[in-house]
Amino acid sequence: MKVLFVCLGNICRSPMAAAIFNHKVQQRGLPYQGDSCGTGDYHIGAPADHRTLTVARKNGVQVNHAARQLSNDDLEEFDYIFAMDKSNQFNIQRLPAAQENKHKIRLMREYDPKGLGEVPDPYHGTLTDFQDVFEMLDRSIDRFINELQSKSNS
Ligand code: 4NP
Repeated sequence: MKVLFVCLGNICRSPMAAAIFNHKVQQRGLPYQGDSCGTGDYHIGAPADHRTLTVARKNGVQVNHAARQLSNDDLEEFDYIFAMDKSNQFNIQRLPAAQENKHKIRLMREYDPKGLGEVPDPYHGTLTDFQDVFEMLDRSIDRFINELQSKSNS
């Protein structure tokens, strides 16, 4: 079971999301795999933003990351594809393989128990914005993993 987290630059939100997901599934001993990518090509090969690294570390999550761009093949390869915001979702849906894989493409905060919305781009923000993003992702991913587990147990 493979889960892809997608943002714009693949240096702030989606690397944090994939690291949180991988941390949680490892803790629970679940055979799931998380990865991330960006719809844009600005930061290909770059590590995660230093604020993503700081906030993740503060919350006990390790991030090992090199940015990459979303490809059409990703839509075939992954079982779930989470867009951080509607603009990312729109760009994912424009790829040719999106037609047959529409059901895989979701907005991350569909799973947020505190409510719907987008995971806002923190790139021009402060460390507090990155912490807010961490908390949204943490809540949403917890709920997503709980649902995966209850599906696999039923
Ligand atoms: P991300 O944040 O999509 O969460 O990785 C951004 C990082 C870089 C840029 C935009 C958003 N940028 O325009 O360079």
